[in-house]
Amino acid sequence: MSNWSKSSWRAKAILQQPTYPDQEELKRVESQLADYPPLVFAGEARNLKHSLAKVVNREAFLLQGGDCAESFSEFHANNIRDTFKVLLQMAVVMSFASGLPVVKVGRLGGQFAKPRSSDSETIDGVSLPSYRGDIINSIEFNEASRVPNPHRMIQAYHQATATLNLLRAFASGGLADLRQVHKWNLDFAQQSEVSAKYEDLAKQIEQSLRFMEACGVTSTSYRTLRETDFYTSHEALLLNYEEAFTRQDSLTGEWYDVSSHMLWIGDRTRQIDGAHVEFLRGVNNPLAFKAGPTMQSDDLLKLIDILNPDNEAGRINIIVRMGADKVADNMPQLIRAIEREGKQVLWSCDPMHGNIIKSSNGYKTRKVDSILTEMKQFFQVHKSEGTYAGGVHLEMTGKNVTECLGGSFQITEEDLTSRYHTHCDPRLNADQSLELAFMIADTLKEAR
Ligand code: PEP
Ligand code: CO
Repeated sequence: MSNWSKSSWRAKAILQQPTYPDQEELKRVESQLADYPPLVFAGEARNLKHSLAKVVNREAFLLQGGDCAESFSEFHANNIRDTFKVLLQMAVVMSFASGLPVVKVGRLGGQFAKPRSSDSETIDGVSLPSYRGDIINSIEFNEASRVPNPHRMIQAYHQATATLNLLRAFASGGLADLRQVHKWNLDFAQQSEVSAKYEDLAKQIEQSLRFMEACGVTSTSYRTLRETDFYTSHEALLLNYEEAFTRQDSLTGEWYDVSSHMLWIGDRTRQIDGAHVEFLRGVNNPLAFKAGPTMQSDDLLKLIDILNPDNEAGRINIIVRMGADKVADNMPQLIRAIEREGKQVLWSCDPMHGNIIKSSNGYKTRKVDSILTEMKQFFQVHKSEGTYAGGVHLEMTGKNVTECLGGSFQITEEDLTSRYHTHCDPRLNADQSLELAFMIADTLKEAR
């Protein structure tokens, strides 16, 4: 890796960063963070890379999901548990239909920093710096709250460690045992059509498990029935934080960003000669980047050459987020360039970020219909190009929120006023997420 160090990004142009008023305090916090224990172990990041290589080889499917922005105020065991349960439900729905293992990756345990379309926000004639995520400043609309405070990185770290600790406990301590498949359904979701569909599927799984037990295959003897592998990911946006967690693996001597298993570059910070690309090219974690409507095939290829010079499968996940009305027009040229150059990539679909609208009563929202449409088109394009639609990237929660329009409960613009809690973009609730999982399951089944 030529001329790379964990701080070489500092010499490059960088977008979407806070300006900390006290640089000395920032340095003190950075060196404190650099002494803190890692959140993940490099070996886990390598395991994830192997699993993602299986997706590239059409032997698995990737499910990546969680909050748009984790927040200090929504930090609660029940929220983590319920999001985890919905991800398990979605994974089992997809896996049962397709016969493929589902690689589960949360937007959790570090998903705090947000790129913003504007540097300032104006309410009733008052302009203040934009909210950039709880790791940087506070969402409260007053001058003091919007000042970037480096100590928020320390709070974010502690929240991420506690989150990851609980996720690891859930993944291996019994909650993810396939025999609990009924218990993953959330109470509030139990009246809907889609959760009834889930109950039916859970019954079939239980029946299969009883048959397998009769044959001697039990969850006591098979770890994969009793436990699951659950990974974390976030956008590597705030590079001061990421650099502090960039360490040399004691087993291999390679560099890893141990703040998370997988890291991605957002659509606004993927400039070829920019700081974010410079930073991530040097760490050995599995990486992703967003490909929005402005992505051109020559830039895509350059980006891949920089980030994955050895063309290693499992290293690169292209998260396509074009919008329902653009994906069919924009994606084929990208796929053809990748195929022509023989690049090993995982294609996944983020049907969220290209479909943001403003409701007539002023909420930033998304229609479940547009989300479903983009997903379907994504699968369709891959089918006609002969390539593999390998994954999905979602903003969702186990909380019973009303942030996206439509779905089986037919959430209306009026309903948005009821439980709109997100700190940034609108999330799918448990029902809407399950509905999407069934749609994906049908498509995967058909493809088999
Ligand atoms: C996000 O994933 O929350 C995000 C900001 O996405 P994008 O970079 O695709 O806009
Ligand atoms: Co978002």
